[in-house]
Amino acid sequence: MADYDVIIIGSGPGGYVCAIRCAQLGLRTACVEGRDALGGTCLNVGCIPSKALLHASHMLHEARENFSKMGLIGDAPSVNWNAMQSYKNDTIGQNTKGIEFLFKKNKIDWLKGWASIPAKGQVRVGEETHTTKNIVVASGSEPSTLPGIDIDERKVISSTGALALDTIPENLVIVGAGVIGLELGSVYHRLGSAVTVIEYLNNITPGMDGDIQKAFRKILERQGLTFIMGAAVQTADIVGNDVRVTYALRSGDEPESVAADNVLIATGRRPYTDGLGLTELNLEQDSQGRINVDDHWQTNIDGIYAIGDCINGPMLAHKAEDEGMAVAEHVAGKHGHVNYNVIPSVIYTHPEVASVGLTEENLKEHERSYKVGKFHFMGNGRAKANFAADGFVKLLADTETDRILGCHIIGPSAGDLIHEVCVAMEFGASAEDLALTCHAHPTYSEAVREAAFACGDGAIHS
Ligand code: NAI
Repeated sequence: MADYDVIIIGSGPGGYVCAIRCAQLGLRTACVEGRDALGGTCLNVGCIPSKALLHASHMLHEARENFSKMGLIGDAPSVNWNAMQSYKNDTIGQNTKGIEFLFKKNKIDWLKGWASIPAKGQVRVGEETHTTKNIVVASGSEPSTLPGIDIDERKVISSTGALALDTIPENLVIVGAGVIGLELGSVYHRLGSAVTVIEYLNNITPGMDGDIQKAFRKILERQGLTFIMGAAVQTADIVGNDVRVTYALRSGDEPESVAADNVLIATGRRPYTDGLGLTELNLEQDSQGRINVDDHWQTNIDGIYAIGDCINGPMLAHKAEDEGMAVAEHVAGKHGHVNYNVIPSVIYTHPEVASVGLTEENLKEHERSYKVGKFHFMGNGRAKANFAADGFVKLLADTETDRILGCHIIGPSAGDLIHEVCVAMEFGASAEDLALTCHAHPTYSEAVREAAFACGDGAIHS
């Protein structure tokens, strides 16, 4: 008999959630993790630590900018960077220990070390080979860099280095105006760095709704971030204590350069499958190194599945989690399912940005007939009281059926607000369904209802 029913490789949100669901469904489960702590990129060097720094730096901003407006008088706090790093590290520790506890509770074996797959039904960890009926590869992704640029995590950093710098840089150049660049750019800007973001395209946050892109950039510029758009970064060379970044404007001018204490390369991530032995196994991958899977996350080798950042689709923790649960159910003989049309994405800046479903650009491209309901937080009493009235909710619905097709929010707690629209979309709701649902007053979520009203007879407070 095999040692396990399922061995999961990687303990990030995809892997650990898959392991817990497998164990809950009665499968003998092990999870391989080579880091010292469970939780993968998300808990150790991604979502969780970045959110701790985003929260701390936002609190600083509130204290400096808004406390006195509310009659809270006194010296604004200053930054103790070491203490802030300790807070961030404590947050990581609490979360990773939490997963360890859940593994014990669910009787999941943590196989410590880096895994390889010598053959179907076998996983090698260190000197030991474990046998298993099923393998789930959830090995995640790693930061990608640009050709000719070496990340030393000291001066030229990825998101990993950016979470643990020795000091707050006076000048920070960020390459790439995607999610990572803008979240970490916001952190350092609020902590006092002069932040310049260099982006290849003409818009920030590729793939987001165009209205949101424009509003978001304006807000970030007003906050003090500088953008150099339409510029391809070519080199990042360490010169003395500085890094000099050269970039070519797409307009074809001579290369220009800018110097900074640190340069953050935030130009995307790539699947991480090093050392697994996939080539020897003849496990199919695409040209970008993603593992090919079918509708049930099954690879070309029977009994080997793959989920999360190492397969196709958005590199998002919650997408990986959903795939992890679905695969667990599939392996246990049930019917797992992921609705890829309703996967929210959130940028945790202030204001937050959140999006689900189709953008207006998608709808135009597919010549769909749609209506737009927009509501600005300026008309929301709670947002005004909280100095959080920047931004809007934009709801897109089918002209004929009124069915909700997408929602894009920039504003306070956008990352939480988006979920009522996700639920509505899962149930095939119309904008009118949202509008007819009573929303408590005064809440930010009234802005979502108002956007739904705006798809019909009109919003009340605009
Ligand atoms: P991204 O793909 O979101 O953005 C990268 C940006 O870099 C693009 O705008 C691209 O045009 C630009 N770029 C590429 N080459 C360039 C060059 N030579 N010069 C100038 N600009 C260049 O990638 P990012 O921000 O690194 O994020 C990686 C992944 O991690 C994404 O899939 C993201 O969804 C995920 N992530 C999600 C988070 C969230 O959901 N809150 C947080 C952090 C990461």
